[in-house]
Amino acid sequence: MPSFEEILSKERLIINSDVLSPHYLPEKLLHRDKEIEFIMKVTAPAIKNQAINNLFIYGKTGTGKTACIRYVMKEFEKYKNNSIMTYVNCKIYNSRYKVMQKALKEIFPELEKLGFGIQFIYEKLLELLNSGKSMIMVLDEIDMVTDLDDLVYTITRANDESKSGHANIIGISNKLSFKERLDQRTKSSLCEVETVFYSYNAQQLKDIIKQRVEIGFKPNVVEESAINLAAAITANDNGDARYALTLILRAGQIAEQKGLTYVSDKEVEEARRFVDNEIIGEVVKSLPEHQKIVLLAVAQLTIEKSKQQRLTNYEDNCFLSGEVYEKYCKLCKSMNKQIRSARWYREYLHDLEMLGLITITETGKGMRGHSRLIRIGYIPERIIEMITWTMK
Ligand SMILES: Nc1ncnc2c1ncn2[C@@H]1O[C@H](COP(=O)(O)OP(=O)(O)O)[C@@H](O)[C@H]1O
Ligand SMILES: [Mg+2]
Repeated sequence: MPSFEEILSKERLIINSDVLSPHYLPEKLLHRDKEIEFIMKVTAPAIKNQAINNLFIYGKTGTGKTACIRYVMKEFEKYKNNSIMTYVNCKIYNSRYKVMQKALKEIFPELEKLGFGIQFIYEKLLELLNSGKSMIMVLDEIDMVTDLDDLVYTITRANDESKSGHANIIGISNKLSFKERLDQRTKSSLCEVETVFYSYNAQQLKDIIKQRVEIGFKPNVVEESAINLAAAITANDNGDARYALTLILRAGQIAEQKGLTYVSDKEVEEARRFVDNEIIGEVVKSLPEHQKIVLLAVAQLTIEKSKQQRLTNYEDNCFLSGEVYEKYCKLCKSMNKQIRSARWYREYLHDLEMLGLITITETGKGMRGHSRLIRIGYIPERIIEMITWTMK
């Protein structure tokens, strides 16, 4: 008979998968001393009850922004003072109302109840500030807030109106272009000081992976070359530490499933395909319908052309924008969907490119004037599979 004891005692490589999860905050953050010091310098006056500047932090996903701010918050809390630093995940609390309610209900539990007007919540904030306390709201993924101009304005106003305490914002965003889209007034209030988190390089990623492998895996089961490969793949791709850690975790799970006693390059390679599928799958699933159809058009054209040319290398196939639009129209007809105008179609292409699902190259002025060449960014068979599955 099988027993838990036997199963648990069987060679397991991963001893703690939690430490490889994106939510885990390691004791020591590597290669981010300068960034952490900068945030601390900006916020330090608050410990002495002095005013601080609003801070805006941006950088791509997985550059350690959330981890660093959580670290700073932990350190900040060690100093008893009149300032409260409070963390709000704007992916969940995505409006002025929700953000302010979330930030203030820790101090005023009565706000837990719904139904208060924004004015009431605002007065609670003023009450807090007028009692001599200060509040620093850390707004992670701040670009998700739908009425951000109102939120920034409200907090700035509270700061101006308060007789003693201060209200400040630390805004964090993954979207590099986001700042440019802000209203001028919002931008100048929010970005009084700012800092960029640059992507990690291969060496830095290697150190980050190693640190987690040491506590998450049994000693000496992950080969050095596997760590190097995971770091190199990630650095080449986007430098996202989360991706690197997920790769090594999946590689470990694959090795366990195979009953291996070590994790090598081969498992990392396999994990990569697996993780990419997971990520692309999520992206494709969340596309609006017509973007799916445009993407499907590119994928189908790619396969058709590869078949004609007996090519296995789909990467060389690219299509004129008009050609793809024609295919899109055909697909819409066969699916009984209303065809969207060429103007919309160009928007869809742009969105798909931003997501890395296609690439667009502008050709110089040719016979037919300015034209755009479209190429699929991922294995077309997989794309088709995912789209037909999600459109069922
Ligand atoms: N400098 C670092 N040292 C150790 N782990 C890191 C570092 N930067 C990021 N990580 C880890 O990588 C993952 C993603 O980091 P996160 O802070 O969530 O990135 P971001 O908020 O920029 O998207 C987390 O698991 C985090 O602990
Ligand atoms: Mg984050």
